[in-house]
Amino acid sequence: MPQNIAIVGLQWGDEGKGKVVDLLALEADVIARCQGGANAGHTVIVGEKKYILHLIPSGIIHQDKICFIGNGVALDPFGLVEELKVLESEGIGYRGRLFISAACNLVLPYHKLLDEIYETRRGESSLGTTLRGIGPAYRDKVARQGIRLADIFDDRTLKQKLAGIKSQRTDLMASLPDDPRCDFDKIKTDLQALCPLLLPMMVDVSFELDRLQREGKRILFEGAQGAMLDVDLGTYPYATSSNTTVGGIFTGLGVGPRMVDEVVGVVKAYCTRVGAGPFPTELTGETAELLREKGAEYGATTGRPRRTGWLDLVALRHACRINGVDKIAITKLDVLDDFETIKACMAYEIDGVEVTEFPPLISSFERVRPIYREFPGWRTDTGAVTQFDQLPEEAQSYVRFLADQMGAEIKLISTGAARSETILV
Ligand code: GDP
Ligand code: IMO
Ligand code: MG
Repeated sequence: MPQNIAIVGLQWGDEGKGKVVDLLALEADVIARCQGGANAGHTVIVGEKKYILHLIPSGIIHQDKICFIGNGVALDPFGLVEELKVLESEGIGYRGRLFISAACNLVLPYHKLLDEIYETRRGESSLGTTLRGIGPAYRDKVARQGIRLADIFDDRTLKQKLAGIKSQRTDLMASLPDDPRCDFDKIKTDLQALCPLLLPMMVDVSFELDRLQREGKRILFEGAQGAMLDVDLGTYPYATSSNTTVGGIFTGLGVGPRMVDEVVGVVKAYCTRVGAGPFPTELTGETAELLREKGAEYGATTGRPRRTGWLDLVALRHACRINGVDKIAITKLDVLDDFETIKACMAYEIDGVEVTEFPPLISSFERVRPIYREFPGWRTDTGAVTQFDQLPEEAQSYVRFLADQMGAEIKLISTGAARSETILV
């Protein structure tokens, strides 16, 4: 068992990272989130209970684990409070075991307003963001005008920073002068009201993780979104604003590369995407609908129906390379149980040329024609299977083929949302 494991999504998010983290957390002591924000929606099912985590690491459900939110996370402090309330109402305590980096950049109400304004202005080429203020908050961070968690504890700094933002953002704010999300005095008061709650949680996450690692504690790094949404390596500009690949762990938590002993990529047995942007294997019509309904493919954060399609091995090979994936966790295999035939895209045809590498130019995706390989379906329920060799032969060869194509070993196969519906390989 490796000491520290990184869990990253390999597609366009919603691969089932929440379930995989919840499961692997059983063997870990610490769970840390390094990037993204409340755009994420990680579902964990425990018995009859369903939890959807946005900012807080999914490991929080295990009451004996310590959780960290790293500096790379875009932290919506008001959203965090709402999430903490839900946990408390479910009897899940967080005091003394949830810690947040002092260097987290905050997502504030005006970032959500700006997200809406930018999306509206983009018109037909809108990105379909989650409207959680993620892009505008990371934009302020990179422009070096973001407000960090530590800033809210210093009245003068907070006042100066808010005034700076207000003066630079007049063009946008002018369009909606009466929107309460631009009321900077209120934002300041509301932030300061959170200080007593947040102060005991604020730590130097990098230092703490190093200390815990030296004590022999096992750390799980919980990625958000997926490789294809990475701001550098995904389908830019149809991406999110953070590094969703493994590099996000090092900069987003302040740890060195040797802290990660194993990279586990989570991959759905088919593919989904929510929001705009290229999706070469997207389906429409009956098959798309079947996948959506059987897979309950509706956004955990926004409730939007997810676009559905077959597995894309061109994109997945790219995702494995840029993440240095060692092992894969294949999820939602059960969703394919009823299909007579299953397809996986082996290559793209672009302007009559067969391409096996992920194209760097976004406009090429307009001309992609997926080249599929067909697999016979198994038409058997896999929900109750817990051993690999009990899977129908067709299902075994499908997943073996995927792993082989991705150059990774299979760590686990998930055949249902519950913890028990898992094959540990
Ligand atoms: P995440 O963002 O990667 O954590 O994934 P989401 O939670 O947004 O979406 C995954 C959805 O699939 C959730 O509703 C999970 O409960 C569900 N799920 C996870 N694994 C499985 C599985 O193996 N089979 C089925 N049918 N559902 C699953
Ligand atoms: P988890 O962690 C799926 C998508 C949005 C949009 C694009 C940009 O649950 O897998 P943003 O609000 O980040 O500026 O939106 O990214 N997106 C996700 N899609 N799962 C997610 O997170 C996502 N987080 C962002 O739909 O297309
Ligand atoms: Mg999700």
